[in-house]
Amino acid sequence: MNTQVAIIGAGPSGLLLGQLLHHQGIDNVIVERQSGEYVLSRIRAGVLEQGMVDLLHEAGVHQRMEKEGLPHDGFELAFDNRRVRVALDELTGGSRVMVYGQTEVTRDLMTAREAAGATTIYAAGNVQPHALESDRPYITFEKDGETVRLNCDYIAGCDGYHGVSRQSIPNDRIKEFEKVYPFGWLGVLSDTPPVSDELIYARHERGFSLCSMRSATRSRYYLQVALDEKVEDWSDERFWEELKRRLPEDVAHKLVTGPSIEKSIAPLRSFVAEPMQYGRLFLVGDAAHIVPPTGAKGLNLAASDVNTLYRLMVKVYQEGRTDLIERYSPTCLKRIWKAERFSWWMTSMLHTFSEQEDFNSRLQLAELDYVTSSKAGLATIAENYVGLPYEPLE
Ligand code: APR
Ligand code: PHB
Repeated sequence: MNTQVAIIGAGPSGLLLGQLLHHQGIDNVIVERQSGEYVLSRIRAGVLEQGMVDLLHEAGVHQRMEKEGLPHDGFELAFDNRRVRVALDELTGGSRVMVYGQTEVTRDLMTAREAAGATTIYAAGNVQPHALESDRPYITFEKDGETVRLNCDYIAGCDGYHGVSRQSIPNDRIKEFEKVYPFGWLGVLSDTPPVSDELIYARHERGFSLCSMRSATRSRYYLQVALDEKVEDWSDERFWEELKRRLPEDVAHKLVTGPSIEKSIAPLRSFVAEPMQYGRLFLVGDAAHIVPPTGAKGLNLAASDVNTLYRLMVKVYQEGRTDLIERYSPTCLKRIWKAERFSWWMTSMLHTFSEQEDFNSRLQLAELDYVTSSKAGLATIAENYVGLPYEPLE
């Protein structure tokens, strides 16, 4: 089998890259370890920056998002039993975000890819990239008991944090930066109306909580929990009770509860691998970096990597500009580290830390009071939340 760009992983990174390349006539094949249904069963983030919305338009995968997605002009920070609104549009000169679940983005991309007739191989076993430093790289994988070889010009490693792409780079050619937080998020999805029209990020002495949504009838809530907590120990009733205790009273009072349709715990981590390119392999999205979800940046960072690689590949195939390949990693990393900083900062300001002293707790409150009472403070939150500009390749 031959293609121009072999893509490992059919998450949002791989599917979006594939669709954009396809539109430019650049042939690509996606090889995914899981089944399509499995990929769609993962409940992930739900806030899209304008840059990602624009990319979905460019990929021609925007119709359902424009119809069903919820544009948000602001969100709230809650602390000290009060709420402060971050007016995204006013503070940024008109930018906003789109609330539309990653699962839906993935579904739309899968449908578009199928309609375009592009090849995706699901349930591929033992996917391995080879000859990355040569100009004839290839990947091998097992399908229906046979080993298949896929020859290509370039490989996009879109296979997430646990994927094989990053692991196939020799240890002395990659450096990893990591920060693990001493807590996780317990998430619940429920078919109940959202407690508020906008997202609420709430700091409380009992721990952080977040009120988010997927639609006018489906809510997504999160609670900060200790790393040793088990989902089985969290009945729906216990979850709702704890959430109410952590929200400002007026919000808690309005909360509509109901049976959960999904419940899971995810640890929080900051992680970056540098560089994001090794020979003809490019790392994209979660394969190269992880952010804690507090700034809603994970999916959006994946989209900005895709934007960079897509524009690079267009230059390579349409203008023969192979000299730009070395620009991929520094271009991506510039924006990634700023999103890492924002995500770390939001996490630090809003969560309780087990070793927390009263002193730190007072500092958090002073910081929240300061940033929310200063126009400059609010603007810094807003411009990061809607997404910093995409970095040009040259
Ligand atoms: N071979 C083939 N596919 C693999 C392999 C492998 N060895 N390892 C992992 N994969 C697949 C996974 O099954 C998954 O479908 O790669 C895909 C990676 O998808 P994601 O983990 O969703 O990563 P990505 O596409 O970069 O999406 C961006 O940012 O913060 C997050 O929530 C956000 O998941 C989203 C991510
Ligand atoms: C979500 O809706 O899942 C969500 C929203 C905002 C975040 C994180 C997760 O910061």
